[in-house]
Amino acid sequence: MRNPYLPYPVRIDAISVETEDKNLKTFKFVFLDPADEKKFAYKAGQFAELSVAGKGEIPIGIASSPTEKGFAMFTVNKVGLVSSFLHSMKVGDVMGLRGPMGNWYPWERMEGKNVVIIGGGFAFTTLRSSIIYMLHPDNRKKFKDIHVIYGARTPGMLLYREELAAWEQRDDIHMHITVDGTSDPNWKYNVGFVPAVTEKKAPPAGKDTYAIVCGPPIMIKFTLPVLERLGFADSAIYTTLENRMKCGLGKCGRCNVGNVYVCKDGPVFTARQVKAMPMEY
Ligand SMILES: Cc1cc2nc3c(=O)[nH]c(=O)nc-3n(C[C@H](O)[C@H](O)[C@H](O)COP(=O)(O)OP(=O)(O)OC[C@H]3O[C@@H](n4cnc5c(N)ncnc54)[C@H](O)[C@@H]3O)c2cc1C
Ligand code: FES
Repeated sequence: MRNPYLPYPVRIDAISVETEDKNLKTFKFVFLDPADEKKFAYKAGQFAELSVAGKGEIPIGIASSPTEKGFAMFTVNKVGLVSSFLHSMKVGDVMGLRGPMGNWYPWERMEGKNVVIIGGGFAFTTLRSSIIYMLHPDNRKKFKDIHVIYGARTPGMLLYREELAAWEQRDDIHMHITVDGTSDPNWKYNVGFVPAVTEKKAPPAGKDTYAIVCGPPIMIKFTLPVLERLGFADSAIYTTLENRMKCGLGKCGRCNVGNVYVCKDGPVFTARQVKAMPMEY
């Protein structure tokens, strides 16, 4: 059996700056050994550890979709030691990728249902993976209506702007993009915080509608009660926790909340599960 602590060697194939503050970059990696790509089979919602020799490892959500072949993609916010070093790396540099890790959004359970995706800030990464996955011609028929509510501070802080524009043009996905504020007179989407836009734009809850909520803790905190008011059951709302992690394998105890290992049992949990956890998250 393969040692789960050993990363796959990957080469940086492309880097793009996502946001106007230049703090978010998307890295496209290709596996040095193409056979490793198959071993790194993942589902939308999972994360991986990006490792930089001599610097360390960081858990990052997988932004590419399992339906996209030939590469794995991650969007990284420059905050500290490893993420800042990663931001200084160049196309062609070689580093490590360990995973995939954790659980994923409940794709089989959501088949035949409406799906409402609600995201804020750079947590939109695994939601991009999810949207690309659901819109793939092999998968689109499996889901009913798809709504996306996505917010950023300003238009220039939105991730994946070309893709957002392309999704806006499609009639098989309902996009509700919002910003906290803007002075751009040409801004044609919503202005307002994600919870308020959710209240106005989310489809009615019902037995056949699931919500995925992923974003900064403050956004999640104010969005969950809105979904409850709209009639969503706790068990129909999925959200993610991003605790500090080390091993990512349920071994070191760095990430646990009570007896739950966020890295192994999560990071995806229902709102019902999160409410049952001790208030350590
Ligand atoms: C499951 C999961 C998925 C994630 N997905 C993404 C992603 O897609 N893109 C992304 O940019 N980041 C993501 N993160 C957060 C990312 O792991 C941290 O920002 C990163 O570990 C910081 O490492 P560093 O060495 O650069 O910073 P450090 O030098 O370790 O710390 C610098 C700053 O980052 C903060 N920090 C460190 N770890 C975390 C953490 N886990 N959560 C919140 N703040 C932290 C510290 O409090 C400190 O303020 C994810 C985290 C988890 C657990
Ligand atoms: S990160 Fe080690 S147990 Fe979760």
